[in-house]
Amino acid sequence: MLPLKEKDKPIVQKLLAAGCCARCVLRFCCVSVHAAYRQPPQVRLHYSPGFKLGASGENNKSHDAAGSDAHEEPPSKRAKLEPGASGDMSGEDAAAVAGQRDEELRVCVVCVGVLQELCDATQASKVCVRVCSQMCWGLFSAVDELTCPFWILQHSCWLHVKKELREKSAKLDKDDVVQVKEAFKWVMQGLVAKELGGVSVYVTNPCKKQTDADCHFLASTCPDCFKPTKNKQSVFTRMAVVKALEKIPEDRHSPCPPRRPSSSCVPLDVQCLHASVFVAGRYNKFCRSLPQTPWLIDGERRMESSVEELIAAPVLSSFRAAGFNFSSSGREDVDVRTLGNGRPFAMELLNPHRSSFSTAQMKQLQETINKSSDKIRVRDLQIVSREAMSRMKEGEEEKTKSYTALVWTLKPIRRDDISFIDDIQDLTLDQKTPLRVLHRRALAVRHRVIHSMSARFLDSHHFYLSLKTQAGTYIKEFVHGDFGRTKPNMCELLKTDTDILELDVESVDVDWPPSIPE
Ligand SMILES: *[C@@H]1O[C@H](CO)[C@@H](O)[C@H](O)[C@H]1NC(C)=O
Ligand SMILES: *[C@@H]1O[C@H](CO)[C@@H](O)[C@H](O)[C@H]1NC(C)=O
Ligand SMILES: *[C@@H]1O[C@H](CO)[C@@H](O)[C@H](O)[C@H]1NC(C)=O
Ligand SMILES: [Zn+2]
Repeated sequence: MLPLKEKDKPIVQKLLAAGCCARCVLRFCCVSVHAAYRQPPQVRLHYSPGFKLGASGENNKSHDAAGSDAHEEPPSKRAKLEPGASGDMSGEDAAAVAGQRDEELRVCVVCVGVLQELCDATQASKVCVRVCSQMCWGLFSAVDELTCPFWILQHSCWLHVKKELREKSAKLDKDDVVQVKEAFKWVMQGLVAKELGGVSVYVTNPCKKQTDADCHFLASTCPDCFKPTKNKQSVFTRMAVVKALEKIPEDRHSPCPPRRPSSSCVPLDVQCLHASVFVAGRYNKFCRSLPQTPWLIDGERRMESSVEELIAAPVLSSFRAAGFNFSSSGREDVDVRTLGNGRPFAMELLNPHRSSFSTAQMKQLQETINKSSDKIRVRDLQIVSREAMSRMKEGEEEKTKSYTALVWTLKPIRRDDISFIDDIQDLTLDQKTPLRVLHRRALAVRHRVIHSMSARFLDSHHFYLSLKTQAGTYIKEFVHGDFGRTKPNMCELLKTDTDILELDVESVDVDWPPSIPE
């Protein structure tokens, strides 16, 4: 059925008069019917009774309505987005349409052309030419946020029709207005997929006209809203801009409605990226001189490789991906081995050119990793969903981990001296942030539980200590005491100085990713 209703009329007229394009009119009428946006971009808006969206032949009936007063029309009458003809509406509407005819080729004041000429089949086929040459696959996902000035334009246009929108329905608010990027996606998604014969893509930044300069006036309104962060290229992020806009008193917001832009924005970087693929597995680390991630001090490499890089190299080349993002369930120190079933990890592969792998191919890849180095091994390697990745981090604190430590004692020990350790259960530790990590972590006291322990006598100064602990326990500090910063500790328990010579992670009890039968 038709997306626009009689009660949209005041908003429609106001928006058209302000210089909005047809698609922006739909957006501000909070129309979420995707098909409505797929009409050609030069559509004219007009009202007529009893229209159905469809063949133009059905229009005939509407001629009856020509010249009638809009306010006398029965409530069932609908407005319609229709290409072409305009002779069948009230005088008021006809005037709006006549005006719009001139406006037609002019750049929309809110979307600056994104939903006009940047959003049609010609554009889609341009996108597709690039995509096809890259052997495309993947999912069409949201167009990246159109940044700063779009939010200013959007806000000022919203203020412009706010009253009418509220009159239409008290429930409607700013968030109900369809975003430019959504409308863009609804139109382009279908067009691109059609061009590519069902294959779809991920499109970022349909256009870029604005510069930070457009936003600088906002900084004076709300200096606190624009704080530099190390990860962001610009301080003018969407969140910050929206926040600053909220602080401008409505009557001081100008221009409202937005001014007519002199030119439409240019598709500088319609970029097609392949949607990310997520790969998960578990790794073993058999080496006491391998960091988990590249170890850099003042930009200088300290170790020639890392777990992350050893795994990533074969994976990146198999998926022909441009980059990756590695995460794991906890991490071990450079000198700690990870044995047993290994530590769960997951990686996001960025812009990969291959996405589907059979079980056999994944196994092949796993073997390639296994053979590439004797420092690490990988198991349960599989493709997972973005959502599934979060399961690795879920309830991480409650999970248990098992370790074996080689402990040295200052005083000579006999077998009997350490046998009491086996009986200790659920020992709660207070651990001040260890000295060795104090430079990067805040000083705090952690409470962690050692669920159970057992000791295996080796010689008069050494024994193996096995521990089952809550995740996040600092094991090294528990053994040597960290100058009394961890309490209780092994020195106190044995009443002599103790130190840790070797540490192995025996198991990380996270039941994700699912294990893959051999
Ligand atoms: C609409 O009118 C045209 C001529 O004005 C006619 O040829 C056509 O058959 C009519 N269509 C319908 C659906 O009535
Ligand atoms: C890597 O992951 C982090 C956290 O999930 C995210 O903030 C960051 O944007 C990601 N990096 C890339 C290049 O995707
Ligand atoms: C890789 O090594 C792990 C750990 O030893 C083993 O479980 C897995 O089966 C190996 N996979 C292949 C394909 O060699
Ligand atoms: Zn527009």
